[in-house]
Amino acid sequence: MADQLQTGADVKTAPPAIDAPDAAPNGGPTSSSAPVLSTENVHVFYDGIPAVKEVTMDIPRHRVTAFIGPSGCGKSTLLRSFNRMNDLIPSAEVTGKVLYHGQDLYGSGVDPVEVRKHIGMVFQKPNPFPKSIYDNVAFGPKVLGMKVDMDEVVENSLRHAALWDEVKDRLKQSAFGMSGGQQQRLCIARALATNPDVLLMDEPCSALDPIATGRIEDLMVRLREEYTIVIVTHNMQQATRVSDRTAFLTVELDEQDNRTGVVVEYDETEKVFSQPSDSRTEAYVTGRIG
Ligand SMILES: Nc1ncnc2c1ncn2[C@@H]1O[C@H](COP(=O)(O)OP(=O)(O)OP(=O)(O)O)[C@@H](O)[C@H]1O
Ligand SMILES: [Mg+2]
Repeated sequence: MADQLQTGADVKTAPPAIDAPDAAPNGGPTSSSAPVLSTENVHVFYDGIPAVKEVTMDIPRHRVTAFIGPSGCGKSTLLRSFNRMNDLIPSAEVTGKVLYHGQDLYGSGVDPVEVRKHIGMVFQKPNPFPKSIYDNVAFGPKVLGMKVDMDEVVENSLRHAALWDEVKDRLKQSAFGMSGGQQQRLCIARALATNPDVLLMDEPCSALDPIATGRIEDLMVRLREEYTIVIVTHNMQQATRVSDRTAFLTVELDEQDNRTGVVVEYDETEKVFSQPSDSRTEAYVTGRIG
């Protein structure tokens, strides 16, 4: 796994089977209990001011992990640090370690494009490209120069995103002709096409109606069999429905009145919602703040 994140490595070869990878950085097997991602004292700064601080956490494999907390507590910022999306924000700086299968994503020689191939992202608002359904899904493998059977990748990705049956007869039509919920599943298919093992989802249902939301939630639960999912959600019912573990973040004020997000509590979802160990978590999950 380690070499796969270096510039240019592994991009010309076919992706492993969709239920991979199992490889550890040194080539040995990864035990299923080993975390896929681990952070060590991560801080993310914008213009030198910390937006989130002191985050040390493990993201378990084949589980859905939810980030909840009030607006501005740094959920999206933390999520973006997991696949180097913060690199695209010039004022952002990440310190500490984000380990992916034990390899530091911010280590020297790591190619952020390779990182995002393994750790895909789905955003709040469905954002298909102005292309056909087929070309949206084929986009990642194409730009990465992956030598794959593209028809097979497109079909597999759409099947995994529970969209194939709805679109198989109109693959060459524009993605803009799809409903919002379909567009979001297309964005999930697009993320799956590069054969990642982690999917980061930042409020993926907030622009969708309840039926489309239910379909995405069902899909997340199914995808968990083969992928590791981290989701940001404002919807606490959603966190209880889909996630195995929940991290509650909140904002702390320092002496200079800087607002910085911290992880208050991170535990099994059931525990966080029924027996939180911190009074701030309890106040949030019972609706007294936030
Ligand atoms: N590009 C940016 N430049 C400067 N500051 C930013 C940027 N993005 C976020 N911030 C600041 O970082 C802090 C955390 O923001 P972030 O968007 O991560 O919070 P969030 O928990 O995702 O909030 P929401 O629930 O509203 O999406 C906020 O104070 C925000 O203003
Ligand atoms: Mg956010």
